[in-house]
Amino acid sequence: MRTSSRDLTQAVVALLVASTASHALSIEGRASTCNGHPELCDRSYGNVSFVGTHDSYAVGTNNLATNQDYDVTQQLKDGVRLLQVEALNQNGTPQLCHTSCTLQNGGTLQDYLGKVKSWMDSNTNDVVTLLITNTDGMPPTTFDGVFKTAGLNTMSWTPPSAQLNSTAWPTLGSLIDGGTRLVTFLAQQADFTQVPYLIDEFTNVWETAFDVTDTTFDCNVNRTNGDPTQQLYLINHFLDKASVFGLPAPDVANAAKTNAANGTGSLGLQVETCEAQYGRSPNFMLVDFYEYGGGSVFQVAATANGVSYNPSTAIATPKDGSSTASASSASTTSSSLSGAQGLIGPTSSQLWWSLVATGVMSVMGSLVLF
Ligand SMILES: *[C@@H]1O[C@H](CO)[C@@H](O)[C@H](O)[C@H]1NC(C)=O
Ligand SMILES: *[C@@H]1O[C@H](CO)[C@@H](O)[C@H](O)[C@H]1NC(C)=O
Ligand SMILES: *[C@@H]1O[C@H](CO)[C@@H](O)[C@H](O)[C@H]1NC(C)=O
Ligand SMILES: *[C@@H]1O[C@H](CO)[C@@H](O)[C@H](O)[C@H]1NC(C)=O
Repeated sequence: MRTSSRDLTQAVVALLVASTASHALSIEGRASTCNGHPELCDRSYGNVSFVGTHDSYAVGTNNLATNQDYDVTQQLKDGVRLLQVEALNQNGTPQLCHTSCTLQNGGTLQDYLGKVKSWMDSNTNDVVTLLITNTDGMPPTTFDGVFKTAGLNTMSWTPPSAQLNSTAWPTLGSLIDGGTRLVTFLAQQADFTQVPYLIDEFTNVWETAFDVTDTTFDCNVNRTNGDPTQQLYLINHFLDKASVFGLPAPDVANAAKTNAANGTGSLGLQVETCEAQYGRSPNFMLVDFYEYGGGSVFQVAATANGVSYNPSTAIATPKDGSSTASASSASTTSSSLSGAQGLIGPTSSQLWWSLVATGVMSVMGSLVLF
């Protein structure tokens, strides 16, 4: 008996060795680093935290409707892996605008996707997520056309069904190995039967409140169309302040504090709060002016993922000229930006007066959309 059980053990060991060897052979060329970290290759997409940029295309200075200082290429270079855009219908063409194209015009979705494609072509071990706010409710086939022109349809991951449990997402390694490294959520009008890679956001992802003006940043479910316990989740961690006519505008002066790893109103604190509430970290952390904090947003994500944050190159510095970009520089930032925030710049005045002309009430109404 003992002999035969030892034989059996040896046979099993031999089989294991053989299968491991053949497995190793069949996986030659498999990604050894995923989104910068070997540890993330075997992790489900649903178990990873990604830093995202709110209105990633809304780039500029001295403009109340801009949310970022740097364009999508720099955002990706610095480590942003979720890109949120708002697409409006301009004569059938998706155009990236904030609320209205008079207020902010970030160019066509097609041009934007071209930049994403070229970054992804030269960074083949990264999974990137797009989140498209389809304010005008354009059909998914319109977006499919743009993705095809940009060459991103073949790089898009198609889920097996319209709705996936948060635990059922593939690993980053398998997304990378399969060459389907782009995950796209469409917030409105997704249709699995028509364009299955444009994944419906709210049946798969829930969100916390957005456009908040106080620094509490609670973790309560604010928008969903499903069972939050089975969904991925996104925290909207950007602070607004009331501006003229009560319209919200990004609170740039406090961006370093908002993006910080710790402290009142910080991203780090909201993530801790959410982890305590739900037993898991947010999948997506949407921020404004991501580089404020000097990389703190990426530090927070790395901590949530249990990996180290060691950027190989320094991330961009805030466009207002402050070089330290730490929470302690917030007061400097505040005074240097008072011009923009105080509506002194000609660009801002023009924009705001054109707003008045086009009807503030209707703009305020559509602002509620995002
Ligand atoms: C979502 O958040 C907004 C802003 O805090 C709040 O006014 C609204 O009542 C919330 N909605 C839900 C369903 O929680
Ligand atoms: C769905 O995900 C939750 C965790 O988010 C898990 O508890 C549950 O078992 C999963 N359900 C199925 C059917 O896999
Ligand atoms: C807050 O974060 C900063 C930057 O990461 C760090 O140097 C500091 O020690 C942290 N403070 C606390 C109390 O954790
Ligand atoms: C991933 O799983 C670990 C272990 O359960 C958990 O601590 C972490 O919060 C999870 N992250 C996400 C984004 O689900």
